[in-house]
Amino acid sequence: MSYNLLKGKRGIIFGALDENSIAWKTAERVHEEGGTFVLTNAPIAMRMGSINKLAEKTGSKIIPADATSVEDLEKLVAGAVEELGGKIDFVLHSIGMSINVRKGRHYTDQKYDWTQKGTDVSAMSFHKTMQVLYKQDAMNEWGSIVALTYMAAQRVFPDYNDMADNKAYLESIARSFGYFFGRDKKVRVNTISQSPTPTTAGQGVKGFDGFIAYADKMSPLGNATAQDCADYTVSLFSDLTKKVTLQNLFHDGGFSNMGVSDAVMEAFVEKEEE
Ligand SMILES: NC(=O)c1ccc[n+]([C@@H]2O[C@H](COP(=O)([O-])OP(=O)(O)OC[C@H]3O[C@@H](n4cnc5c(N)ncnc54)[C@H](O)[C@@H]3O)[C@@H](O)[C@H]2O)c1
Repeated sequence: MSYNLLKGKRGIIFGALDENSIAWKTAERVHEEGGTFVLTNAPIAMRMGSINKLAEKTGSKIIPADATSVEDLEKLVAGAVEELGGKIDFVLHSIGMSINVRKGRHYTDQKYDWTQKGTDVSAMSFHKTMQVLYKQDAMNEWGSIVALTYMAAQRVFPDYNDMADNKAYLESIARSFGYFFGRDKKVRVNTISQSPTPTTAGQGVKGFDGFIAYADKMSPLGNATAQDCADYTVSLFSDLTKKVTLQNLFHDGGFSNMGVSDAVMEAFVEKEEE
């Protein structure tokens, strides 16, 4: 169902790799709501994934950019404004990567070159993106910038590894840059803290299947899917959420405020005599 919530709005969507990607679902949903956008991803991901299919389906142009390269981002933002015919109303940062996670390197045995690369890709890239948008004055007033995060920024999930630290940094950047973007350009900046979701990045986390099933059993509404996340993101890009900013918004079926659920208790309670 479409409500035309994004009619006339222009944006940039980072991070659609394949059909499972949260950014992919969001791009489809934004398109349904009348928004137009440029798709972007790292040059290497463009070869691995199937982003061309999404571009075709949504009538979008792809401008490759490594989100750790300010030069690439400058070209991307200028190119998007030109391609879309005006300033930008919404941006989705849906990027995450840890080499330590990928290569099974334990949190207590980090290879710091990898840690640094992961921080650059997963967190600093958000600062770089906003700095380029800010300096080029590329955002329209009452625009909306969203990045995706995970609750490991606040609570311990041992296998999330150095991504936990990257997400804490990402969420802090949203607040710090969000202040200046709000004050100077009336642009809002938020992070969505999403349930575990079966995507390429998600499945890289050790023990992901158990993890996703546990979160589902703990949450009164069950895990939020990538599709649910796309819907929520559309609402944050729309004019219905103009005064929401500097927030980390949990989108997790209630997981973040749970202590324990009946379903999880059941696995631990000793069977009572009949
Ligand atoms: N899947 C989950 O369980 C989950 C939960 C909460 C938050 N998130 C977050 O959602 C976001 C999207 O991830 P996803 O789950 O859709 O997985 P995904 O693997 O589909 O998306 C990650 C994207 O990051 C891109 N990327 C990596 N390095 C890049 C670079 N240098 N420049 C530009 N792009 C680069 C990848 O190409 C890919 O498109 C990430 O920030 C992730 O941490 C995921």
